[in-house]
Amino acid sequence: MIDRPIDSTGFFDAFSKFVETSQTGPWLERLNARYRALVHSNHDIIRGARVLDLASHDGRFTFAALRAGARRVVGIEHDAQLIRTSYENMEFYGVPRDAYDFVEGDVFDHITEVERCDVVFCFGILYHINHHMLLLSKIAAIEPLSLIIDSKLSGMDGAVIEVRSPVAGSPPPEGSEVEGHPTKAALEAMLSSFGWTFEYFDWHASGLTDLGHMNDYRAGTRVSLVVTCNEERYPREVRERAVRSVFALQENRRTQWFVIMDVASQFEVSPQKLRVWVREAERAASRARIAGPRG
Ligand SMILES: C[S@@+](CC[C@H](N)C(=O)[O-])C[C@H]1O[C@@H](n2cnc3c(N)ncnc32)[C@H](O)[C@@H]1O
Repeated sequence: MIDRPIDSTGFFDAFSKFVETSQTGPWLERLNARYRALVHSNHDIIRGARVLDLASHDGRFTFAALRAGARRVVGIEHDAQLIRTSYENMEFYGVPRDAYDFVEGDVFDHITEVERCDVVFCFGILYHINHHMLLLSKIAAIEPLSLIIDSKLSGMDGAVIEVRSPVAGSPPPEGSEVEGHPTKAALEAMLSSFGWTFEYFDWHASGLTDLGHMNDYRAGTRVSLVVTCNEERYPREVRERAVRSVFALQENRRTQWFVIMDVASQFEVSPQKLRVWVREAERAASRARIAGPRG
């Protein structure tokens, strides 16, 4: 729904209602800089795409994706008030109703239920959760072409998920609610385990970190990256043969994981990705068993 060109340096100047309704990182300069890095610089993969916006907040990046030419965007957000605000914002800016939808609830519950998408936005959510591999597996199961990530990182050494309290930081006091912040090495290990490749947005070279409220990006404690999931490399027929090989071989082996590793290397796919395909096939088989024979 591109109807007039928008100055990419000041996207949210033109749509300032989002500055009023944002409850997190609401500064105009920061929102504009994030628009440049996350949406404008990825317009080639967003244009014409079906996008899934995880943790869509007040709909700011759902809207931005549509303005950048996305065909349709679905947001998932667990805060009911923010869902209402998102609908109001879309209506306020006259977005055609069939171009978007918002699903109220937990991203973990809804990712695999919503319609197919080409691109997943994972902005500002990876450090609010604890089950990173589960989230990434669910994303892998819907087979997007690309995943765009924007996340705070832990500054600890090694491939570590640092458990922090959302209010009191690290280490979390006893009994506190906790969330997991991945280190850069952990994030990269998790992404590459699916056979995905990625490229960071160069915040320093962009000059955008000189703007106000950009300390985290400037310090490298927050990063943005485009992940190429490239499912098109694996035609359905190849996937089905790989899964059938796992099922056939596992009958004589104790640990499915070793079978998956062998078959993965045979089919030149990452073990983590094959594991997602196998789990999917197991779920489909169990659904078919529950449904029982037809007729
Ligand atoms: C830091 S904001 C990010 C908003 C927006 N994606 C962005 O990057 O500007 C985090 C959002 O995630 C939502 N959220 C946190 N955990 C969630 C979950 N498990 N499922 C759905 N929404 C969640 C919060 O309500 C909040 O709106």
